[in-house]
Amino acid sequence: MTKRFLWDDAYSVQSRVIDEQHKKFFTILNAMERLRKAKKCTPNDLLRVLKSLTDYAFYHFAIEEDFMERFGYERLEHHRQQHDVFRSELATFAERATTEEARTLLEVIEEYSQGWLISHILREDRTCIPLFQKMDQLL
Ligand SMILES: [Fe+2]
Repeated sequence: MTKRFLWDDAYSVQSRVIDEQHKKFFTILNAMERLRKAKKCTPNDLLRVLKSLTDYAFYHFAIEEDFMERFGYERLEHHRQQHDVFRSELATFAERATTEEARTLLEVIEEYSQGWLISHILREDRTCIPLFQKMDQLL
């Protein structure tokens, strides 16, 4: 089966640790698409895959923010606000999951998440390449 959400080298922040974590988002988005196209796609299935995206986003953003704080990154607050937009959108999706049709909502979540992720990586994370490279040496 072809994967819809594909990693591209243009998304690299030249850090093994962060690139691997970013790739994990694409894996989760592909799992969402698989579920949406599966014979059975219940509201509980949707909540389960949304939880895995949410848990991973919180985990990954906290790692980035901790490092930015540790190294006094000057755009930390701006970067954190960008993460906050995604964190709060995920909470909204969880609320919508209780009333909206699972497959339709999954497609919305996939589209939004992919768009946010790629634009965040290209516009924000790629400005942090020196910082992320330091992480590789420390982790
Ligand atoms: Fe980020």
